[in-house]
Amino acid sequence: MNEIIKAAGITKVYGTRNQVRALDDVNLTIEAGEYISIRGPSGSGKSTLLNIIGCLDRPTSGELILDGVDVEKQGDGELSRIRRDNIGFIFQSFNLLPILNAVENVELPMENLKMTPKERRDRAMKLLGTVGLKDRWNHKPKEMSGGEKPRVAIARALANDPSVVLADEPTGNLDSRTGKSIMKLLGELNHNTGTTVIVVTHDISIAKATQRQLYVEDGRIKEKTRNLSGKKEIGSKLKLSPEICNKLVKAGYGDLGRVLGIDPAKLSRVKGLKRREITQVLEAIKNYK
Ligand SMILES: Nc1ncnc2c1ncn2[C@@H]1O[C@H](COP(=O)(O)OP(=O)(O)O)[C@@H](O)[C@H]1O
Ligand SMILES: [Mg+2]
Repeated sequence: MNEIIKAAGITKVYGTRNQVRALDDVNLTIEAGEYISIRGPSGSGKSTLLNIIGCLDRPTSGELILDGVDVEKQGDGELSRIRRDNIGFIFQSFNLLPILNAVENVELPMENLKMTPKERRDRAMKLLGTVGLKDRWNHKPKEMSGGEKPRVAIARALANDPSVVLADEPTGNLDSRTGKSIMKLLGELNHNTGTTVIVVTHDISIAKATQRQLYVEDGRIKEKTRNLSGKKEIGSKLKLSPEICNKLVKAGYGDLGRVLGIDPAKLSRVKGLKRREITQVLEAIKNYK
């Protein structure tokens, strides 16, 4: 698997006199092609995390590797290039330009690319087709329904064929049925193109539509590991990846106590656990103790 995002010890402090620690030592690895939700209370740091992953903002400290590039070592110009080439952003209020129609909004991110106006138009129309809005191409945002605007925002986020799509509460202002249809669209996008999709939401039913669910509280990330049938201790406490946890659970090591007391020789008998993963488990146990 290919790590598309690796955040190590990311901390973000806002303000100088009245400091707010919006993110506190966030460690997170995301593989290319994952479909992830980030949930958490208002003010917990979700948007800050998304903005840092999307290179819209820089952390106060910590390291962010995006598709192999150490983001913190890049200057501002390079950072916007990385953002333009790798990231598609969907904002909560969608940020569509009111004076432009749907197809013109989708074309905007392509302005700086070496494309002819016709190539741009063709690609934008194709993307509008993908989100089911081909026949609405000449409608302005104020002429669109609540469910159509996020679709235009999704099409625009895909304009530059990004490797990562980040969506900050895209369903926050939608009724639940429309919200579900937007999540379905993002899920299809992830499934059909292998694009990594990260969705921030405060809605658990929306989060459940994703494969991997993260939870942020007070600027810290907590992972709800997948398919652990209620046995979440090992994943969150030892900070092991869901893949490793699933293998441990299947082998009967479903709770923290059993993993902590594990005989290293037995780890090598856990089905499917690679040598590298065994080392990670042993390391995690050592760090936890
Ligand atoms: N530009 C900023 N300046 C100062 N404080 C900020 C700024 N942006 C966010 N914060 C603070 O950081 C914390 C996390 O905010 P945010 O990431 O927006 O949370 P969420 O998206 O989970 O609601 C909050 O306490 C918020 O008030
Ligand atoms: Mg937010």
